[in-house]
Amino acid sequence: MNGKTAVPRPIGGLQFLWAYLLNHKQTGSVVPSGRALVARMIRPVPQNYSGEIIELGPGNGTLTVRLAAKCPNARIVACEINPALARRTRTNLAAAGLEHRVEVISDSAQNLLNDRIRRGVPPADFIISGIPLANLTRPDTFELIDTIHGALRKRGMYIQFQYALVDREKIKAKFWRLRTVPVLLNIPPALVYYAWK
Ligand SMILES: C[S@@+](CC[C@H](N)C(=O)[O-])C[C@H]1O[C@@H](n2cnc3c(N)ncnc32)[C@H](O)[C@@H]1O
Repeated sequence: MNGKTAVPRPIGGLQFLWAYLLNHKQTGSVVPSGRALVARMIRPVPQNYSGEIIELGPGNGTLTVRLAAKCPNARIVACEINPALARRTRTNLAAAGLEHRVEVISDSAQNLLNDRIRRGVPPADFIISGIPLANLTRPDTFELIDTIHGALRKRGMYIQFQYALVDREKIKAKFWRLRTVPVLLNIPPALVYYAWK
């Protein structure tokens, strides 16, 4: 299987729009990511990867479903702050028969990652995030980037999409190496950061 694996298209676009209308800063986008953006986000994760992947801000599970289909041996933990969207992610995973591969946690990324660090849970190889960093305050952005860094193993990869370059330097300052890839075939066009610890 690869990033183009056929899985049922996750539903919940209207719910996503509603989440945006209720809290646009937190939701960060009017629509879920498109296929090209999701493909770019999950491309670095090998199909036969059998460790743990943490996804932050799965929304309706658009990326989660594709990632779980691509990596049948991986353990995926998806952490969504909006309980309604967390439920939608679970429903979409179940519709694709992938619910047993993903643990969906309804909490903030900060709580999940800090709790893992506190409990000494082994650091993850991949952290994939759709959290709208640009909508956080500057101190909160630095804090989240620090926490993500702390929850990754050495040479582990942090993958993040954004719609603007505003936080590029903050990520670059914290990580060993950063690559920025534009994804024009998305509404709106986006950027994907690949950051290595
Ligand atoms: C731009 S959407 C991306 C959704 C999905 N990953 C996609 O690509 O379609 C951002 C998501 O992050 C969630 N989110 C925002 N802040 C969060 C936080 N601190 N912890 C966990 N999820 C968060 C929002 O509720 C929303 O579902």
